[in-house]
Amino acid sequence: MAHSERNAVINPRSVVSLISRLRNARGQADPYPIIKEIREMGEVVPAPWGAQLFTSYELCDKVLRDHKSWRALDDQWRTRRADGRWGAPSATELSTVLQGLNPPEHTRARRSVGNIFDRRTLEKLRTPIAATVEELLDNLEERIREEGEADFSVLVSEELTIAAMGHWLGIPRADYALVRSLSHAHIYAQELLPTPSQLATANVGMLGMREYFTNLVKDRRENPGDDVISGWIRTWDELEPDRESADHHVYLLVMFIVGAALETTSTLLSNLVWTLDQHPDQRAWLLENPHEVPRAVEEVLRFDPPVHVTTRAAARDTVVAGVPIARDEIVHTLIASANRDPDRNTDPDTFDIRREGGHLSHLAFGGGIHYCIGAGMARMEAQLLLSAVIRRFPTLRVSAQPQWEPRVAFRHYTALPVTTG
Ligand code: HEM
Repeated sequence: MAHSERNAVINPRSVVSLISRLRNARGQADPYPIIKEIREMGEVVPAPWGAQLFTSYELCDKVLRDHKSWRALDDQWRTRRADGRWGAPSATELSTVLQGLNPPEHTRARRSVGNIFDRRTLEKLRTPIAATVEELLDNLEERIREEGEADFSVLVSEELTIAAMGHWLGIPRADYALVRSLSHAHIYAQELLPTPSQLATANVGMLGMREYFTNLVKDRRENPGDDVISGWIRTWDELEPDRESADHHVYLLVMFIVGAALETTSTLLSNLVWTLDQHPDQRAWLLENPHEVPRAVEEVLRFDPPVHVTTRAAARDTVVAGVPIARDEIVHTLIASANRDPDRNTDPDTFDIRREGGHLSHLAFGGGIHYCIGAGMARMEAQLLLSAVIRRFPTLRVSAQPQWEPRVAFRHYTALPVTTG
């Protein structure tokens, strides 16, 4: 059946019920049957909150790459559309950071970041990250020895992610827990259909992030060095003659980059363990072929990406797959659906590290001008961790059902109990 025919019979209310199912414990444990139901409704699925869900790989890819037709939710959009959900302080703050900017502001901000994870920088980060991996796995081993099981998500995934960022940006170790909790609160501003209490949590998180990172930038301004943040201050001093304004831009960069890393990488790290646990034949093959770790990481990114949804607005009135979309209307690109689109990846619900001689397509890091700036860092962390896990814990297994936050857009584990033997 053509997509447009399918779209014609969709009752938008049924979409709300599917999204609610994605939030409950069963939907969190396995969202993919629900995502498949949404994809099978059509390439464009209208949602009753005045948005469209784009489900196919081809369409999501096109939207992410065509920044002229599909725009980030910038300040001007929010001024026209600001209501309770998009007008919340935690949401408006996001329209002034990279992901909420359109050219030319986006081009300027993105250039100011520089080529932060070039080959040389990644090589410099490799040794300290590898050392942290070993340290965290020592803790995991000790906890399993003492208590019979341990929480991989809490002891390893969450810790490695903040330690890598902390090391790179010079965030004091004593502040890791605070920064992580503020970021976990702020992310609700990017959730699909956040509840009023989630938005209130996001607002508190945003204020905390603002205070913390404004002070961090102030400290680097007073004590400049050859660190990353001092470098951004020098760059912005050239772009913005006013110091206050330069510091504000640097604060926005640091705050957003830290949040973007913390709300994604730890989920990938836990997904590696959970997905391999659910596919013992693949796990056994990887144990025999440890040099294939990079391919395993890519297939996990395709099979279960940490970010399931990204959002844009239509630049003008248009029609997609027979569905009229008005200027400023929101479209959600469902990355999790796109990665499992059978038109793109053969047999998409099968987790197969060796798929088609290694060829696979995924949108886990987005695409186009907003393509993830931290993909290199995330891949390196994931590869170092997975290599160490299979080397040190060949009999690691998940010992009880994992738990997730009831989020739809940015997946997040609250528990991943593991044991050995
Ligand atoms: C597995 C880990 C990660 C995943 C799955 C991920 C995913 C994504 C996705 C899907 C986007 C595009 C969003 C959109 O188009 O609206 C994005 C953008 C971004 N990511 Fe990541 N990310 C990860 C790790 C990181 C890390 C480690 C950093 C920083 C060190 C980072 C920083 C950013 C930034 C700053 C952007 C915005 C870029 C822009 O708008 O120009 N991410 N990421």
